Amino acid sequence: MTAPDETGVRDGTAFSAGYGDWEPDEFVGNGEAVLAFIGDYFAGIRDLPVSPTVDPKTLSAKIDTEVPQVGEDFTAILKDTQSLIVPYLTHWNHPRFHAYFSNTGSLPGVLADTVSSALNVNAMLWKSSPAASALEKTVLRWMAGMLGIAPGNDGVLVNGASLATLYALTAARETVVGLDVRERGLTGYGRRLRLYTSDQAHSSVDKAAIVLGIGRENVVRVPADDGYSMRGAALAAAVQADLSAGHQPFAVVATAGTTAVAADDEIDAIADVCRQYFLWLHVDAAYGGFWRLAGSGAEAAADLSRADSVVANPHKVLYAPMEVTALYCRHRDALPNVFRLVPEYLRTSPDDGVVDYMNYSPQLGRSFRALKLWWIIRSFGVQGLANRLQRSIDMARWLRSAAGSDPDWQVPVDSTYPLVCLRYVPRGLRRRYEPAPVPLSRIASLNAGVLDAVNASGAAFLSHAVLRDGYVLRVSIGNIRTEPSDIEALWAQLRMSAEQVWDDQCAHQ
Ligand SMILES: Cc1ncc(COP(=O)(O)O)c(C=O)c1O
Repeated sequence: MTAPDETGVRDGTAFSAGYGDWEPDEFVGNGEAVLAFIGDYFAGIRDLPVSPTVDPKTLSAKIDTEVPQVGEDFTAILKDTQSLIVPYLTHWNHPRFHAYFSNTGSLPGVLADTVSSALNVNAMLWKSSPAASALEKTVLRWMAGMLGIAPGNDGVLVNGASLATLYALTAARETVVGLDVRERGLTGYGRRLRLYTSDQAHSSVDKAAIVLGIGRENVVRVPADDGYSMRGAALAAAVQADLSAGHQPFAVVATAGTTAVAADDEIDAIADVCRQYFLWLHVDAAYGGFWRLAGSGAEAAADLSRADSVVANPHKVLYAPMEVTALYCRHRDALPNVFRLVPEYLRTSPDDGVVDYMNYSPQLGRSFRALKLWWIIRSFGVQGLANRLQRSIDMARWLRSAAGSDPDWQVPVDSTYPLVCLRYVPRGLRRRYEPAPVPLSRIASLNAGVLDAVNASGAAFLSHAVLRDGYVLRVSIGNIRTEPSDIEALWAQLRMSAEQVWDDQCAHQ
Protein backbone atom coordinates (compact mmCIF):
# COMPACT_ATOMS: atom_id res chain seq x y z
CA MET A 1 0.00 0.00 0.00
CA THR A 2 1.23 3.52 -0.74
CA ALA A 3 2.00 5.62 2.30
CA PRO A 4 -0.21 8.71 2.48
CA ASP A 5 2.71 11.08 2.37
CA GLU A 6 4.67 9.34 -0.36
CA THR A 7 5.72 11.67 -3.14
CA GLY A 8 7.91 11.18 -6.14
CA VAL A 9 7.98 11.12 -9.91
CA ARG A 10 6.06 8.52 -11.89
CA ASP A 11 6.09 8.41 -15.68
CA GLY A 12 7.86 11.72 -15.64
CA THR A 13 5.11 13.37 -13.57
CA ALA A 14 5.47 14.59 -10.00
CA PHE A 15 2.91 13.03 -7.71
CA SER A 16 1.76 13.02 -4.15
CA ALA A 17 0.00 9.84 -3.10
CA GLY A 18 -1.96 11.44 -0.25
CA TYR A 19 -5.35 10.00 0.55
CA GLY A 20 -7.02 12.94 -1.10
CA ASP A 21 -8.99 14.61 1.66
CA TRP A 22 -7.97 18.08 2.74
CA GLU A 23 -6.63 19.42 6.00
CA PRO A 24 -8.99 21.96 7.63
CA ASP A 25 -6.97 24.99 6.52
CA GLU A 26 -6.68 23.60 3.00
CA PHE A 27 -10.47 23.14 3.02
CA VAL A 28 -11.03 26.75 4.00
CA GLY A 29 -8.70 27.98 1.25
CA ASN A 30 -10.28 25.75 -1.37
CA GLY A 31 -13.74 26.64 -0.08
CA GLU A 32 -13.02 30.33 -0.54
CA ALA A 33 -11.89 29.62 -4.09
CA VAL A 34 -15.08 27.64 -4.75
CA LEU A 35 -17.31 30.37 -3.31
CA ALA A 36 -15.52 32.91 -5.50
CA PHE A 37 -16.01 30.58 -8.47
CA ILE A 38 -19.76 30.24 -7.75
CA GLY A 39 -20.07 34.00 -7.17
CA ASP A 40 -18.33 34.75 -10.49
CA TYR A 41 -20.46 32.17 -12.26
CA PHE A 42 -23.70 33.79 -11.14
CA ALA A 43 -22.39 37.33 -11.61
CA GLY A 44 -21.33 36.56 -15.18
CA ILE A 45 -24.07 34.17 -16.17
CA ARG A 46 -25.77 36.64 -18.47
CA ASP A 47 -22.59 36.78 -20.59
CA LEU A 48 -22.46 33.02 -21.14
CA PRO A 49 -24.15 31.40 -24.12
CA VAL A 50 -27.23 29.71 -22.68
CA SER A 51 -26.33 26.50 -24.46
CA PRO A 52 -23.00 25.47 -26.02
CA THR A 53 -22.40 24.41 -29.59
CA VAL A 54 -20.05 21.48 -29.29
CA ASP A 55 -20.21 18.11 -30.93
CA PRO A 56 -20.26 15.04 -28.66
CA LYS A 57 -16.99 13.59 -29.97
CA THR A 58 -15.03 16.79 -29.37
CA LEU A 59 -16.49 17.10 -25.89
CA SER A 60 -15.78 13.49 -24.97
CA ALA A 61 -12.23 13.85 -26.25
CA LYS A 62 -11.73 16.75 -23.84
CA ILE A 63 -13.33 15.14 -20.81
CA ASP A 64 -12.80 11.41 -21.12
CA THR A 65 -9.30 11.10 -19.66
CA GLU A 66 -7.72 8.08 -17.98
CA VAL A 67 -8.54 7.58 -14.32
CA PRO A 68 -5.93 9.32 -12.13
CA GLN A 69 -3.89 6.91 -10.03
CA VAL A 70 -2.56 9.55 -7.72
CA GLY A 71 -4.25 12.54 -6.20
CA GLU A 72 -4.19 15.83 -8.07
CA ASP A 73 -3.94 19.35 -6.83
CA PHE A 74 -7.33 21.01 -6.30
CA THR A 75 -6.25 24.14 -8.17
CA ALA A 76 -5.98 22.01 -11.31
CA ILE A 77 -9.34 20.33 -10.64
CA LEU A 78 -11.12 23.66 -10.18
CA LYS A 79 -9.38 25.13 -13.22
CA ASP A 80 -10.51 22.17 -15.33
CA THR A 81 -14.05 22.56 -13.99
CA GLN A 82 -13.96 26.15 -15.21
CA SER A 83 -12.45 25.40 -18.59
CA LEU A 84 -13.76 21.90 -19.44
CA ILE A 85 -17.15 21.75 -17.78
CA VAL A 86 -18.80 25.17 -17.41
CA PRO A 87 -18.41 26.28 -21.06
CA TYR A 88 -20.00 23.05 -22.26
CA LEU A 89 -23.07 23.11 -20.08
CA THR A 90 -26.54 24.27 -20.93
CA HIS A 91 -27.14 26.82 -18.20
CA TRP A 92 -30.46 26.21 -16.49
CA ASN A 93 -29.67 29.17 -14.23
CA HIS A 94 -29.41 31.53 -17.20
CA PRO A 95 -32.09 34.24 -17.34
CA ARG A 96 -32.79 33.35 -20.98
CA PHE A 97 -33.12 29.60 -20.44
CA HIS A 98 -36.74 28.98 -21.45
CA ALA A 99 -36.79 25.30 -22.40
CA TYR A 100 -38.75 22.46 -20.75
CA PHE A 101 -39.92 23.99 -17.46
CA SER A 102 -37.23 26.51 -16.69
CA ASN A 103 -36.03 26.79 -13.13
CA THR A 104 -33.21 28.20 -11.04
CA GLY A 105 -31.08 27.08 -8.16
CA SER A 106 -31.43 30.14 -5.91
CA LEU A 107 -28.39 31.11 -3.87
CA PRO A 108 -29.75 30.09 -0.45
CA GLY A 109 -30.54 26.70 -2.00
CA VAL A 110 -27.04 26.39 -3.48
CA LEU A 111 -25.38 27.01 -0.13
CA ALA A 112 -27.85 24.82 1.75
CA ASP A 113 -26.90 21.92 -0.52
CA THR A 114 -23.25 22.55 0.33
CA VAL A 115 -24.02 22.46 4.04
CA SER A 116 -26.20 19.40 3.60
CA SER A 117 -23.29 17.61 1.89
CA ALA A 118 -20.97 18.72 4.66
CA LEU A 119 -23.28 17.39 7.36
CA ASN A 120 -23.67 14.19 5.32
CA VAL A 121 -26.86 13.26 7.12
CA ASN A 122 -28.71 10.11 6.16
CA ALA A 123 -32.37 10.94 6.78
CA MET A 124 -33.62 7.36 6.74
CA LEU A 125 -34.65 6.97 10.38
CA TRP A 126 -35.58 9.56 12.94
CA LYS A 127 -32.79 8.16 15.08
CA SER A 128 -30.24 8.44 12.27
CA SER A 129 -31.16 12.08 11.68
CA PRO A 130 -33.48 13.63 14.30
CA ALA A 131 -33.27 17.27 13.21
CA ALA A 132 -33.29 16.38 9.50
CA SER A 133 -36.42 14.27 9.95
CA ALA A 134 -38.09 16.94 12.10
CA LEU A 135 -37.23 19.57 9.49
CA GLU A 136 -38.60 17.41 6.68
CA LYS A 137 -41.89 17.24 8.59
CA THR A 138 -41.92 21.00 8.99
CA VAL A 139 -41.13 21.96 5.39
CA LEU A 140 -43.66 19.39 4.17
CA ARG A 141 -46.28 21.05 6.38
CA TRP A 142 -45.29 24.50 5.13
CA MET A 143 -45.51 23.41 1.51
CA ALA A 144 -48.81 21.57 2.09
CA GLY A 145 -50.18 24.95 3.20
CA MET A 146 -48.85 26.57 0.02
CA LEU A 147 -50.53 23.85 -2.08
CA GLY A 148 -53.86 23.87 -0.24
CA ILE A 149 -53.36 20.36 1.09
CA ALA A 150 -54.37 19.43 4.65
CA PRO A 151 -51.40 19.56 7.04
CA GLY A 152 -52.18 16.08 8.39
CA ASN A 153 -51.45 14.33 5.07
CA ASP A 154 -48.54 11.97 4.95
CA GLY A 155 -45.67 13.45 2.99
CA VAL A 156 -42.13 12.70 1.95
CA LEU A 157 -39.40 14.43 -0.02
CA VAL A 158 -38.16 12.42 -2.96
CA ASN A 159 -35.82 13.08 -5.85
CA GLY A 160 -38.31 13.85 -8.61
CA ALA A 161 -41.91 13.76 -9.77
CA SER A 162 -41.41 10.65 -11.89
CA LEU A 163 -40.50 8.51 -8.91
CA ALA A 164 -43.11 10.22 -6.72
CA THR A 165 -45.80 9.16 -9.20
CA LEU A 166 -44.43 5.62 -9.21
CA TYR A 167 -44.57 5.48 -5.40
CA ALA A 168 -48.08 6.94 -5.29
CA LEU A 169 -49.37 4.43 -7.83
CA THR A 170 -47.73 1.59 -5.92
CA ALA A 171 -49.70 2.67 -2.85
CA ALA A 172 -52.83 3.08 -5.00
CA ARG A 173 -52.66 -0.46 -6.32
CA GLU A 174 -52.12 -1.89 -2.86
CA THR A 175 -54.90 0.18 -1.30
CA VAL A 176 -57.58 0.04 -3.98
CA VAL A 177 -57.31 -3.42 -5.48
CA GLY A 178 -56.36 -5.39 -2.39
CA LEU A 179 -54.16 -7.71 -4.44
CA ASP A 180 -51.39 -7.74 -1.87
CA VAL A 181 -48.79 -7.51 -4.63
CA ARG A 182 -46.34 -6.52 -1.94
CA GLU A 183 -46.42 -10.03 -0.49
CA ARG A 184 -47.73 -12.25 -3.27
CA GLY A 185 -46.34 -10.60 -6.39
CA LEU A 186 -48.35 -10.33 -9.59
CA THR A 187 -49.36 -13.96 -9.73
CA GLY A 188 -52.81 -15.25 -10.38
CA TYR A 189 -54.92 -12.15 -11.03
CA GLY A 190 -57.02 -12.59 -14.13
CA ARG A 191 -58.30 -9.05 -14.74
CA ARG A 192 -56.35 -6.25 -16.35
CA LEU A 193 -55.57 -3.41 -13.98
CA ARG A 194 -56.37 -0.13 -15.72
CA LEU A 195 -54.82 3.25 -15.09
CA TYR A 196 -56.30 6.44 -16.61
CA THR A 197 -54.57 9.62 -17.59
CA SER A 198 -54.95 12.17 -20.35
CA ASP A 199 -53.29 12.02 -23.75
CA GLN A 200 -51.33 15.07 -22.51
CA ALA A 201 -49.95 13.49 -19.34
CA HIS A 202 -46.24 13.17 -18.73
CA SER A 203 -44.38 10.02 -19.82
CA SER A 204 -43.60 9.30 -16.16
CA VAL A 205 -47.11 7.80 -15.87
CA ASP A 206 -46.22 5.19 -18.50
CA LYS A 207 -42.89 4.59 -16.82
CA ALA A 208 -44.67 3.90 -13.55
CA ALA A 209 -46.93 1.41 -15.34
CA ILE A 210 -43.88 -0.29 -16.82
CA VAL A 211 -42.18 -0.65 -13.43
CA LEU A 212 -45.36 -1.74 -11.65
CA GLY A 213 -46.02 -4.49 -14.17
CA ILE A 214 -49.29 -2.90 -15.21
CA GLY A 215 -48.04 -2.49 -18.75
CA ARG A 216 -48.35 0.44 -21.13
CA GLU A 217 -51.30 -1.22 -22.85
CA ASN A 218 -53.26 -0.70 -19.66
CA VAL A 219 -52.57 3.00 -19.42
CA VAL A 220 -55.75 4.43 -20.88
CA ARG A 221 -54.93 7.77 -22.48
CA VAL A 222 -58.19 9.70 -22.25
CA PRO A 223 -58.45 12.28 -25.06
CA ALA A 224 -58.18 15.81 -23.69
CA ASP A 225 -60.60 18.52 -24.85
CA ASP A 226 -59.78 21.40 -27.22
CA GLY A 227 -58.01 23.22 -24.38
CA TYR A 228 -55.81 20.14 -23.72
CA SER A 229 -57.64 19.41 -20.48
CA MET A 230 -58.94 15.99 -19.42
CA ARG A 231 -62.65 16.26 -18.57
CA GLY A 232 -64.56 14.25 -16.02
CA ALA A 233 -67.11 13.07 -18.60
CA ALA A 234 -64.46 11.67 -20.97
CA LEU A 235 -62.82 9.88 -18.04
CA ALA A 236 -66.14 8.41 -16.88
CA ALA A 237 -66.83 7.08 -20.38
CA ALA A 238 -63.42 5.37 -20.51
CA VAL A 239 -63.89 3.81 -17.06
CA GLN A 240 -67.38 2.62 -17.94
CA ALA A 241 -66.16 1.01 -21.17
CA ASP A 242 -63.43 -0.85 -19.28
CA LEU A 243 -65.85 -2.08 -16.64
CA SER A 244 -68.09 -3.43 -19.39
CA ALA A 245 -65.07 -5.22 -20.87
CA GLY A 246 -64.37 -6.86 -17.50
CA HIS A 247 -61.25 -4.84 -16.67
CA GLN A 248 -60.31 -3.55 -13.22
CA PRO A 249 -59.89 0.25 -13.07
CA PHE A 250 -57.81 1.34 -10.09
CA ALA A 251 -56.30 4.81 -10.47
CA VAL A 252 -56.35 8.09 -12.36
CA VAL A 253 -53.47 10.50 -12.85
CA ALA A 254 -54.72 14.04 -13.46
CA THR A 255 -52.33 16.88 -14.21
CA ALA A 256 -52.10 20.46 -13.00
CA GLY A 257 -49.82 22.08 -15.56
CA THR A 258 -49.31 19.65 -18.43
CA THR A 259 -45.91 19.37 -20.03
CA ALA A 260 -46.69 20.56 -23.56
CA VAL A 261 -48.96 23.56 -22.92
CA ALA A 262 -49.38 23.83 -19.12
CA ALA A 263 -53.10 23.05 -19.09
CA ASP A 264 -55.01 21.90 -16.02
CA ASP A 265 -57.22 18.85 -16.10
CA GLU A 266 -60.76 19.28 -14.76
CA ILE A 267 -59.69 18.07 -11.35
CA ASP A 268 -62.93 18.60 -9.43
CA ALA A 269 -65.05 16.67 -11.92
CA ILE A 270 -62.35 14.00 -12.15
CA ALA A 271 -62.39 13.68 -8.34
CA ASP A 272 -66.18 13.09 -8.55
CA VAL A 273 -65.64 10.28 -11.07
CA CYS A 274 -62.94 8.76 -8.86
CA ARG A 275 -65.26 8.83 -5.89
CA GLN A 276 -68.07 7.22 -7.90
CA TYR A 277 -65.90 4.34 -9.14
CA PHE A 278 -63.64 3.97 -6.07
CA LEU A 279 -60.52 5.00 -7.98
CA TRP A 280 -57.38 6.52 -6.52
CA LEU A 281 -56.77 10.07 -7.75
CA HIS A 282 -53.14 11.06 -8.08
CA VAL A 283 -52.55 14.66 -9.17
CA ASP A 284 -49.32 15.41 -10.99
CA ALA A 285 -48.85 19.03 -9.94
CA ALA A 286 -45.10 18.77 -10.57
CA TYR A 287 -45.23 22.03 -12.50
CA GLY A 288 -48.64 23.48 -11.66
CA GLY A 289 -48.60 23.06 -7.88
CA PHE A 290 -46.79 26.09 -6.53
CA TRP A 291 -47.91 28.74 -9.02
CA ARG A 292 -51.05 29.19 -6.93
CA LEU A 293 -48.89 31.24 -4.56
CA ALA A 294 -48.95 34.08 -7.09
CA GLY A 295 -52.10 36.20 -7.00
CA SER A 296 -53.21 35.41 -10.53
CA GLY A 297 -52.18 31.75 -10.13
CA ALA A 298 -54.39 31.43 -7.05
CA GLU A 299 -57.49 32.55 -8.93
CA ALA A 300 -57.08 29.77 -11.47
CA ALA A 301 -55.64 27.05 -9.23
CA ALA A 302 -57.26 23.64 -9.10
CA ASP A 303 -58.27 22.30 -5.69
CA LEU A 304 -55.73 19.63 -4.75
CA SER A 305 -57.33 18.71 -1.44
CA ARG A 306 -59.55 15.99 -2.90
CA ALA A 307 -56.66 14.05 -4.42
CA ASP A 308 -55.54 10.83 -2.77
CA SER A 309 -51.96 11.74 -3.59
CA VAL A 310 -50.25 14.81 -5.01
CA VAL A 311 -46.79 15.53 -6.31
CA ALA A 312 -45.34 19.06 -6.59
CA ASN A 313 -41.81 20.03 -7.55
CA PRO A 314 -39.89 22.70 -5.64
CA HIS A 315 -37.06 22.03 -8.10
CA LYS A 316 -39.29 23.20 -10.94
CA VAL A 317 -40.93 26.22 -9.37
CA LEU A 318 -39.61 27.17 -5.92
CA TYR A 319 -36.04 27.99 -6.95
CA ALA A 320 -34.65 24.84 -5.32
CA PRO A 321 -31.59 23.26 -6.93
CA MET A 322 -32.14 19.73 -8.24
CA GLU A 323 -33.35 17.29 -6.87
CA VAL A 324 -36.34 17.76 -4.59
CA THR A 325 -39.99 16.84 -4.98
CA ALA A 326 -42.78 16.70 -2.43
CA LEU A 327 -45.13 13.71 -2.43
CA TYR A 328 -48.30 13.88 -0.32
CA CYS A 329 -50.79 11.15 0.45
CA ARG A 330 -54.19 11.74 2.06
CA HIS A 331 -54.50 8.20 3.39
CA ARG A 332 -52.42 7.93 6.51
CA ASP A 333 -50.17 4.94 6.25
CA ALA A 334 -50.95 4.03 2.62
CA LEU A 335 -47.30 4.69 1.69
CA PRO A 336 -45.79 2.95 4.74
CA ASN A 337 -48.18 0.03 4.30
CA VAL A 338 -46.52 -0.74 1.01
CA PHE A 339 -42.94 0.37 1.68
CA ARG A 340 -42.31 -0.31 5.37
CA LEU A 341 -39.84 -3.16 5.75
CA VAL A 342 -37.59 -2.96 8.78
CA PRO A 343 -34.66 -5.34 9.01
CA GLU A 344 -33.31 -5.96 12.48
CA TYR A 345 -30.39 -3.55 12.16
CA LEU A 346 -32.79 -0.66 11.50
CA ARG A 347 -35.18 -1.35 14.37
CA THR A 348 -35.72 1.50 16.79
CA SER A 349 -38.17 1.90 19.65
CA PRO A 350 -41.34 3.75 18.62
CA ASP A 351 -41.81 7.17 20.12
CA ASP A 352 -44.40 9.91 19.79
CA GLY A 353 -43.85 12.26 16.89
CA VAL A 354 -41.16 10.12 15.31
CA VAL A 355 -41.22 9.72 11.52
CA ASP A 356 -38.92 7.23 9.85
CA TYR A 357 -38.89 8.51 6.27
CA MET A 358 -37.36 5.29 4.94
CA ASN A 359 -40.88 3.84 5.34
CA TYR A 360 -42.46 6.23 2.83
CA SER A 361 -40.62 5.14 -0.31
CA PRO A 362 -38.28 2.34 -1.40
CA GLN A 363 -35.28 4.60 -0.80
CA LEU A 364 -33.30 3.81 2.33
CA GLY A 365 -30.31 6.16 2.38
CA ARG A 366 -31.71 9.66 1.88
CA SER A 367 -29.97 13.01 1.61
CA PHE A 368 -30.99 16.01 3.69
CA ARG A 369 -33.30 17.60 1.10
CA ALA A 370 -35.30 19.55 3.66
CA LEU A 371 -32.45 21.92 4.48
CA LYS A 372 -32.50 23.75 1.14
CA LEU A 373 -36.26 24.16 1.31
CA TRP A 374 -35.98 25.54 4.83
CA TRP A 375 -33.32 28.03 3.75
CA ILE A 376 -35.18 29.06 0.61
CA ILE A 377 -38.60 29.48 2.20
CA ARG A 378 -37.13 31.39 5.14
CA SER A 379 -34.99 33.59 2.87
CA PHE A 380 -37.79 34.53 0.48
CA GLY A 381 -40.82 34.20 2.72
CA VAL A 382 -44.02 33.00 1.14
CA GLN A 383 -44.76 36.55 0.03
CA GLY A 384 -41.34 36.89 -1.59
CA LEU A 385 -41.86 33.66 -3.48
CA ALA A 386 -45.34 34.79 -4.52
CA ASN A 387 -43.99 38.08 -5.87
CA ARG A 388 -41.27 36.32 -7.85
CA LEU A 389 -43.74 33.89 -9.36
CA GLN A 390 -46.14 36.70 -10.26
CA ARG A 391 -43.33 38.47 -12.13
CA SER A 392 -42.85 35.41 -14.33
CA ILE A 393 -46.57 35.23 -15.01
CA ASP A 394 -46.60 38.93 -15.96
CA MET A 395 -43.63 38.54 -18.32
CA ALA A 396 -45.34 35.60 -20.01
CA ARG A 397 -48.47 37.70 -20.47
CA TRP A 398 -46.42 40.39 -22.16
CA LEU A 399 -44.83 37.91 -24.58
CA ARG A 400 -48.17 36.24 -25.34
CA SER A 401 -49.68 39.59 -26.14
CA ALA A 402 -46.70 40.74 -28.27
CA ALA A 403 -46.69 37.53 -30.32
CA GLY A 404 -50.49 37.40 -30.47
CA SER A 405 -50.68 40.85 -32.03
CA ASP A 406 -47.99 40.18 -34.66
CA PRO A 407 -49.60 39.04 -37.94
CA ASP A 408 -46.69 36.66 -38.67
CA TRP A 409 -47.02 34.78 -35.39
CA GLN A 410 -49.65 32.60 -33.77
CA VAL A 411 -50.29 31.87 -30.10
CA PRO A 412 -52.50 28.82 -30.50
CA VAL A 413 -53.16 28.11 -26.83
CA ASP A 414 -53.44 30.12 -23.63
CA SER A 415 -52.26 29.16 -20.15
CA THR A 416 -52.59 30.59 -16.67
CA TYR A 417 -48.96 29.55 -16.13
CA PRO A 418 -45.92 31.35 -17.51
CA LEU A 419 -45.52 29.03 -20.48
CA VAL A 420 -45.99 30.61 -23.90
CA CYS A 421 -46.51 28.40 -26.95
CA LEU A 422 -46.07 30.25 -30.21
CA ARG A 423 -45.31 29.59 -33.85
CA TYR A 424 -44.09 31.56 -36.83
CA VAL A 425 -46.42 31.43 -39.82
CA PRO A 426 -45.43 34.44 -41.96
CA ARG A 427 -47.91 36.04 -44.30
CA GLY A 428 -45.66 35.15 -47.26
CA LEU A 429 -45.99 31.46 -46.41
CA ARG A 430 -49.74 31.64 -45.97
CA ARG A 431 -50.14 33.40 -49.33
CA ARG A 432 -48.35 30.52 -51.06
CA TYR A 433 -51.00 28.05 -50.03
CA GLU A 434 -54.13 30.21 -49.97
CA PRO A 435 -56.98 29.43 -49.87
CA ALA A 436 -55.76 26.09 -48.43
CA PRO A 437 -54.12 26.09 -44.97
CA VAL A 438 -50.34 25.80 -44.78
CA PRO A 439 -49.43 22.08 -44.40
CA LEU A 440 -48.45 21.21 -40.82
CA SER A 441 -45.19 19.67 -42.02
CA ARG A 442 -44.23 22.99 -43.65
CA ILE A 443 -44.94 24.91 -40.44
CA ALA A 444 -42.98 22.30 -38.49
CA SER A 445 -39.89 22.52 -40.68
CA LEU A 446 -39.91 26.33 -40.57
CA ASN A 447 -40.34 26.51 -36.80
CA ALA A 448 -37.85 23.71 -36.12
CA GLY A 449 -35.40 25.85 -38.09
CA VAL A 450 -36.26 28.85 -35.90
CA LEU A 451 -35.73 26.76 -32.76
CA ASP A 452 -32.31 25.60 -33.97
CA ALA A 453 -31.32 29.13 -34.96
CA VAL A 454 -32.33 30.68 -31.62
CA ASN A 455 -30.64 27.91 -29.63
CA ALA A 456 -27.49 28.04 -31.77
CA SER A 457 -27.27 31.80 -31.23
CA GLY A 458 -26.61 31.19 -27.52
CA ALA A 459 -28.86 34.16 -26.78
CA ALA A 460 -31.71 32.01 -25.50
CA PHE A 461 -32.65 28.37 -25.18
CA LEU A 462 -36.12 27.05 -26.03
CA SER A 463 -37.79 23.70 -26.55
CA HIS A 464 -40.77 22.66 -28.64
CA ALA A 465 -44.00 20.66 -28.58
CA VAL A 466 -46.28 19.22 -31.21
CA LEU A 467 -49.92 20.12 -30.60
CA ARG A 468 -52.98 18.91 -32.45
CA ASP A 469 -52.67 21.84 -34.83
CA GLY A 470 -48.95 21.45 -35.27
CA TYR A 471 -45.51 22.37 -34.05
CA VAL A 472 -44.96 25.14 -31.50
CA LEU A 473 -42.00 26.78 -29.84
CA ARG A 474 -42.30 26.67 -26.04
CA VAL A 475 -41.09 29.59 -23.95
CA SER A 476 -41.11 28.73 -20.26
CA ILE A 477 -40.46 31.70 -17.99
CA GLY A 478 -39.45 30.80 -14.46
CA ASN A 479 -35.86 31.77 -13.92
CA ILE A 480 -35.26 33.98 -10.92
CA ARG A 481 -32.98 36.34 -12.85
CA THR A 482 -35.22 36.82 -15.88
CA GLU A 483 -36.10 40.49 -16.35
CA PRO A 484 -38.66 42.06 -18.67
CA SER A 485 -35.69 43.22 -20.80
CA ASP A 486 -34.70 39.55 -21.29
CA ILE A 487 -38.14 38.76 -22.63
CA GLU A 488 -38.03 41.79 -24.93
CA ALA A 489 -34.61 40.63 -26.16
CA LEU A 490 -35.95 37.12 -26.65
CA TRP A 491 -38.87 38.41 -28.69
CA ALA A 492 -36.47 40.44 -30.86
CA GLN A 493 -34.22 37.38 -31.28
CA LEU A 494 -37.19 35.18 -32.19
CA ARG A 495 -38.34 37.57 -34.89
CA MET A 496 -34.84 38.05 -36.26
CA SER A 497 -34.07 34.31 -36.37
CA ALA A 498 -37.49 33.56 -37.84
CA GLU A 499 -37.03 36.06 -40.68
CA GLN A 500 -33.55 34.73 -41.42
CA VAL A 501 -34.70 31.11 -41.52
CA TRP A 502 -37.65 32.04 -43.73
CA ASP A 503 -35.41 34.03 -46.11
CA ASP A 504 -32.93 31.13 -46.27
CA GLN A 505 -35.66 28.60 -46.95
CA CYS A 506 -37.10 30.84 -49.70
CA ALA A 507 -33.65 31.28 -51.25
CA HIS A 508 -33.16 27.50 -51.44
CA GLN A 509 -36.49 26.66 -53.00
C1 LIG B 1 -46.11 17.44 -15.77
C2 LIG B 1 -44.82 16.76 -15.42
N1 LIG B 1 -44.83 15.75 -14.55
C3 LIG B 1 -43.70 15.09 -14.19
C4 LIG B 1 -42.49 15.46 -14.71
C5 LIG B 1 -41.24 14.72 -14.29
O1 LIG B 1 -40.55 15.49 -13.37
P1 LIG B 1 -39.17 15.01 -12.71
O2 LIG B 1 -38.12 15.46 -13.66
O3 LIG B 1 -39.13 15.71 -11.38
O4 LIG B 1 -39.22 13.52 -12.58
C6 LIG B 1 -42.42 16.51 -15.63
C7 LIG B 1 -41.13 16.93 -16.19
O5 LIG B 1 -41.01 17.93 -16.84
C8 LIG B 1 -43.62 17.16 -16.01
O6 LIG B 1 -43.62 18.13 -16.93
